[in-house]
Amino acid sequence: MRVLSGIQPTGRFHWGNYFGAIRQYIDLQHGNDAYYFIANLHALTTIRDPAALRQNTIDAALDLLALGLNPSKAVLFEQSDVPEVTELTWLLMSITPMGLLERCVSYKDKVTKGLAADVGLFTYPVLMAADILIYDSEIVPVGADQIQHIEVARDIAGSFNHLFGETFVLPKYKVLESSAKVPGTDGEKMSKSYNNTIEIFDEPKAMRKKVMRITTDSRPMEQPKPDYENDHLYQLYSLFATDAQRNEMAALYQKGNFGYGQVKTALADAAEQFFASFRSKRAELAADLLKVQAILTDGASRARKKAGEVLLRAQKACGVKR
Ligand code: ADP
Ligand code: TRP
Repeated sequence: MRVLSGIQPTGRFHWGNYFGAIRQYIDLQHGNDAYYFIANLHALTTIRDPAALRQNTIDAALDLLALGLNPSKAVLFEQSDVPEVTELTWLLMSITPMGLLERCVSYKDKVTKGLAADVGLFTYPVLMAADILIYDSEIVPVGADQIQHIEVARDIAGSFNHLFGETFVLPKYKVLESSAKVPGTDGEKMSKSYNNTIEIFDEPKAMRKKVMRITTDSRPMEQPKPDYENDHLYQLYSLFATDAQRNEMAALYQKGNFGYGQVKTALADAAEQFFASFRSKRAELAADLLKVQAILTDGASRARKKAGEVLLRAQKACGVKR
């Protein structure tokens, strides 16, 4: 299967990004023809600091490679290194109804809040459709918040095929249900926009500090807590714990007589151990940025080869190339 996904370099990746998205990418590189890219063009809709965008892009590459993305299995590249994508975006925009984009939540939310939206934000889903369709992608692994965008890509592909004949493969999304929503330190969905994140590659000390700040309820220690599955601290611990550790923690909640500080320490220990080998791999890669650049350059040339074929197919279909 051709698998493709993109991730925006809008800051350092957090636990939500890992369990909600990145871990799936890594798993899917086995036994599939996988393409993963750093969506720096999409990030331009929010980042206006060029130095930050450059740094975030390298950090994203380092993080993904450290977390197990293997460039000999998957193609890893930067979105802007494949100009065919923006060319295809125009072809797709020409047949995309305004109404389809007006219904997209990222745009709608901003407008509802009374904020001024850029054309880039409005057409964001079309660029995303081009990202997907240009590699004949079959499966697109994403977090639940991106489902609507994949449906838009399918709609656009369907309309194009209907108008100009079979051109694009209709993509399907794949969501990892079990960790669809990783909670943040305040119990809301972990997200950069809520300021409640814990970053994957935080130094252990900084990570512990954030863990200690996780909000908890004020029920007395001795009280049994049979509703442990709703507790975001327990949910976070579950992500890192083995089955045995998780059962032990569940039993503790059910019995009562424990402090949340104890759970936080267990969580910090488990998280530190979980990411330890990734951390040393990242340090190794960060010391050899030329190698990382070579991986991205090679990925871009592999991606462009496929993108060029599909773009030409689309151009011929709609009549802008003979
Ligand atoms: P943020 O909300 O911090 O800005 P992004 O929107 O950049 O994160 O998310 C990148 C990817 O990580 C997306 O596929 C998204 O669905 C996933 N993701 C982000 N936060 C979470 C979370 N708390 N739980 C599960 N998946 C998440
Ligand atoms: N919009 C996606 C996000 O914010 C990133 C993205 C861009 C993407 N292009 C894509 C994801 C194509 C999957 C396929 O997470």
